[in-house]
Formats: sequence, structure tokens, C-alpha cells
Amino acid sequence: MGEPNLTKLAYQTLQKGKGLAGLAHKQLSSKLLELLAPDAIPETKAIPSELLKKIRSSMASLEKLDWQEAEQGLYPKSQLFDAPWLEWAARYPLIWLDMPSTWLRRKYKKTREIPSKINKELYPDYYLQNFHHQTDGYLSDHSAELYDLQVEILFNGTADSMRRRIIKPLKSGLKTFLHKPQGSIRILDIATGTGRTLMQIRGAFPEVELLGIDLSGEYLRQASHFLNSRGKKFAQLIRANAEKIPFPNSSMQALTCVFLLHELPRKARQNVIDECWRVIEPGGVFVLADSIQIEDSPQFSVIMEDFHKIFHEPYYNDYIHDNIKEKLIKSGFISITSQTHFMTRVWTAVKPSNKAN
Ligand SMILES: C[S@@+](CC[C@H](N)C(=O)[O-])C[C@H]1O[C@@H](n2cnc3c(N)ncnc32)[C@H](O)[C@@H]1O
Repeated sequence: MGEPNLTKLAYQTLQKGKGLAGLAHKQLSSKLLELLAPDAIPETKAIPSELLKKIRSSMASLEKLDWQEAEQGLYPKSQLFDAPWLEWAARYPLIWLDMPSTWLRRKYKKTREIPSKINKELYPDYYLQNFHHQTDGYLSDHSAELYDLQVEILFNGTADSMRRRIIKPLKSGLKTFLHKPQGSIRILDIATGTGRTLMQIRGAFPEVELLGIDLSGEYLRQASHFLNSRGKKFAQLIRANAEKIPFPNSSMQALTCVFLLHELPRKARQNVIDECWRVIEPGGVFVLADSIQIEDSPQFSVIMEDFHKIFHEPYYNDYIHDNIKEKLIKSGFISITSQTHFMTRVWTAVKPSNKAN
């Protein structure tokens, strides 16, 4: 009998633990909602047991792939365990304290409770909302401190495994630039939020130049705190709108964008993709990850339809019916492929090299 692979066992146990913790949290918070604010309960459809089986099997495939790709050396195994566990533990009670105000927001359909001190002229109107009913929208340190934990709970501990699905296409896409020293390769992460995706990319590409933009200065502050605490060569972070990326044409070899498109109105979605095309060098790659959509995952349509009833996601219903491939083509991308991993769809697209133009 072979040696048990302890790291694999530890990873599987961690994922199981995160999954159970996420479920327990959701069950407890639903009970509390029933007791304390029954009229804030959203009208959702029950999840049939057949669908639950499909969810579990899809999660298991994701976990298997995440391990396999670490074994293949696409990213270090340490990434599978990397999270600020102590900080998350300390912040967890804040999620409970914040919950009643999110219920009230849902009940009274208050979706624009943004801190009064912010200068609204610095943001597009669609951004000034309480996405997910979260307190302050994306515009406070409090919101930024809770965000990662909330996402972990939402996806039962699979958020990073889904984000890591961009690494393989990113590595293949960057092969075009293999002749260049790694230090001269620039990868920009759009809507980088609290920096989880940048951390995954850094693990896979220790030497490249990493950059991140986001509209929220508070989320970038959280990203900077998190990334600096990892003590690695890190990223340049800039507050900017992804519809107007503050970099010159053809200045990046690769762009990534994770979980942004579903939070944009349709026109802004195309604007962002157009901007990504503009700043990528010909021959470079764009890797885009976001929610699954009705067309690729009809079996999960109940979940997608429930999602925007539970959480304030004003553009989600439009997003799940939108044709992202068409938008990529419209911008000028070629060689577009896509894959689904649990609740995430990953598109890879190439900006044609000048020779092919
Ligand atoms: C759902 S979060 C995803 C964050 C991160 N990519 C992740 O994987 O967790 C959406 C992020 O997009 C940012 N965002 C939304 N609209 C934006 C825009 N037009 N330009 C730049 N960032 C934007 C928000 O501030 C937020 O950090």
C-alpha cells in the first residue's frame, strides 16, 4: 500500500471543513431570519435533491482539478491553504452583527445606502449601490474587511478554487512571450478587489510584474494589507474604472478579470472588454472568470434565479443571459474558448498578433 498523501488529505479536510462551516452558517442565519425578520425572507424556489447531488458532484470535480493542477506544478500547493485565518476568525462575529442591517435593506428594498462622505462624481452611477445588500456597498473599510469571508461562505469554501481556474489558461496564453525575461511580463488584474486573484497569480508567476485596478480605494487598501502580509514581491494597485483603464495601448501581456462582469450593466460590460483589448499587447491573452450562465449550466438555473432574489445583484439576471463570446469577438479577440468549473465560467481570448491582423 502506498504512503498516504498527507498534504492531499489535509487539503481535502480543509475543503470539507470550509464546506460544512459555510452550510452551517447559512442554516443558522436562515433560522435566525425566520425568527427575527420573517418578512425579509426572499421568495426563492426550493432546491430539489437531484440538484443538490449535481451541486455536490460539481464541487467534487472542482476540488479534484484544483489538486491535480497543483500537483502538475501550475501553482504551489501552499496556495491551497493560504488565507489570513486568524483575521477571518476575528472578523467572523462582525458578519453576524452586520446581518440585521442587510435584512432590513432587503426588506425595504434599500439599495443605495452609500456612505455620505464619498464623492459620487468619482464613480459611475451603477456602482453606487449595496451589491449583495452589503453595508456601504464597496465603499468602506468595514465592507472590505468582511468581503472575503462573505464570499467564502457564499461558495462553501470554493471561491479560491474557482479563481485558480484562470492560472492554466494564463500560463498557456503567456507562452507567446516565453522568449522574454519573466520580469518584463506585465499582468493586469481588473476589478482586483481584496487581492485574492493577484495572490493566486503571484504564486504561479513569482517574477512577473503584477498590477491591479479597482474602483474601490477601500478594497485596494485591504488588498495591499493582505498582499504585503504575504511578504512576496507584490503588485502595483491603482484606483480606476475598468471602463477607462489608466494604461497605454498594448502595454500588458495578459489581463485577468474575476467576478466583475455580472455586476455591470450590459453597455459597461462591452466597454470593459473593449478596454481590455486596447491595453493587451498583440499576441497577449485575456482570461475572464465570472458566474456560470443559463446557456452553459441550465441545470443550475434555479440557483442563478434565486441568487439575485437573495442578494442585491441588479445586473445579474441580464448577465446570465448575455453572450460574452459575442462581446469578446466584437472587441476583436480571437481563439475564444470557455470552460465551466462549478459556479464559474472561464473564458480565454487572444488579441491577434500584428502578423495575423
Ligand atoms: C464581486 S467583486 C470581485 C473582486 C475580485 N475580483 C474577486 O475575485 O474577489 C467586484 C469588484 O469589482 C469592482 N468594480 C465594480 N465595478 C468596477 C469598475 N467599473 N471598475 C473597476 N472596478 C469595479 C468592485 O469594487 C469589486 O471590488
